[in-house]
Amino acid sequence: MPADSTCDPVAELPRLGLGLGLRNVHFDHILATWPEVDWFEAISENFMDSGGRPRDVIRRVAERYPVVLHGVSLSIGSTDPLDFDYLRKLKALAAEVQAAWVSDHLCWTGVLGLNSHDLLPLPLNEETLRHVAGRVRQVQDVLERPLILENPSTYLTFNHSTLAEPDFLRQLACDTGCGLLLDVNNVYVTCFNAALDPVAYVESFPCERVVQMHLAGHQHCGTHIIDTHDRPVLPEVWELYRLAWKRTGGASTLLEWDGNIPSFEVCHRELLKAKRYMADHFAPAESGAEDGAGEESISNPVDFLLPEVMASTVPEER
Ligand SMILES: [Fe+2]
Repeated sequence: MPADSTCDPVAELPRLGLGLGLRNVHFDHILATWPEVDWFEAISENFMDSGGRPRDVIRRVAERYPVVLHGVSLSIGSTDPLDFDYLRKLKALAAEVQAAWVSDHLCWTGVLGLNSHDLLPLPLNEETLRHVAGRVRQVQDVLERPLILENPSTYLTFNHSTLAEPDFLRQLACDTGCGLLLDVNNVYVTCFNAALDPVAYVESFPCERVVQMHLAGHQHCGTHIIDTHDRPVLPEVWELYRLAWKRTGGASTLLEWDGNIPSFEVCHRELLKAKRYMADHFAPAESGAEDGAGEESISNPVDFLLPEVMASTVPEER
């Protein structure tokens, strides 16, 4: 499924608009009000193994909204064998909710059967590229759809890295036909921690392969940034989003809020700030947002991992 194929499934994926995460603390609000949100992103692991309320909720949500599945346990970079039981369950859930696409992260989460519960960085070089590309192809063969991979937040660099992350992802997409999820906050976090220029990162990113973007808040610790997802999006990240939105041609955008999660309405107002940064490209009436005007009409949640799942097998999102 090369990217230059005459039939490129990634190019056919829809522009969904502005979405929020389907988080359990907001289930009641969503089911009671059916808010005017463009789409929802669900953490795959929170719904794959559940036959109870979460599965019922996602089914009902999927009847009314586009739904996307976002995973944190694929471990595409690990040297452990791929978990085909996991992939079969993921495929079944994707079919059940008619997921617009399925995404995960460019990372590894464990080895030798151990789960680190974190999204760990990879040395970015030709050897890693061949390794990851082979596994992406296997995943896509099972899922029978392109995999969408996200740039992670990172806190270190490897002496063995020979490729910049945008170049690595460009080559990976070219070799496998996968799509990309550009997390703008992760770009800012990674670039600050590695003393790189985030604008140059976005300008060199293969935006033609970007299906979706993420926005989130982070904690600045002076010497480094931690990707906490527990507060509003920082102004610097919003400015970077302006560039990313332009370069991707308006890719589907999702706000992540996974710690100290406020009310659905607060999350939704934060999401709708995105319209300000599209204003360069839309007429005001269309964007509905001049200095925040017209940002009150939608709402949605952004928590993340169901507590019982977090306590067992799922690594923390970054
Ligand atoms: Fe993200």
